[in-house]
Amino acid sequence: SAPQNFYAEVGGHPVFHRIVARFYEQVAEDEILRPLYPEEDLGPAEDRLRMFLEQYWGGPRTYSDQRGHPRLRMRHMPFKVGPIERDAWLRCMKVAVDEADLDDPHREQLWHYLQYAAASMVNSDF
Ligand code: HEM
Repeated sequence: SAPQNFYAEVGGHPVFHRIVARFYEQVAEDEILRPLYPEEDLGPAEDRLRMFLEQYWGGPRTYSDQRGHPRLRMRHMPFKVGPIERDAWLRCMKVAVDEADLDDPHREQLWHYLQYAAASMVNSDF
């Protein structure tokens, strides 16, 4: 799991907020990803992803207080996540992470995790 001081080291809530908001700006314009999201308002999905990442990296445990055990692979089963969706997700996330101005070690650590996590969410061969 993640080092518990990562959240504070990179700057806490404002940094996670900025990364995930930027990610969802991309999702809103992405013709592969946008149709997967059932709700018209992406705001609640943005909140859930941000809260999850904040918790994973040692921040507040609000995600689990509100949503329970993450069970992320199971929660993604209603959506077809194949290699194309995985790559689109990572493409959007790369922009957000690169724009966050983290120092190299933190950026690489975060990016390594996100690539691994995205691969583990794939539930379709096509
Ligand atoms: C939820 C797509 C990868 C974390 C969702 C939702 C969609 C989606 C459509 C439902 C929106 C909502 O109601 O929240 C995808 C796709 C991925 C991907 C196409 C491509 C690989 C990831 C990764 C993470 C993640 C890598 C974590 C690092 C979450 C979380 C939720 C969520 C925390 C909300 C779960 C809940 O509490 O209900 N995702 N996702 N997703 N995703 Fe992903």
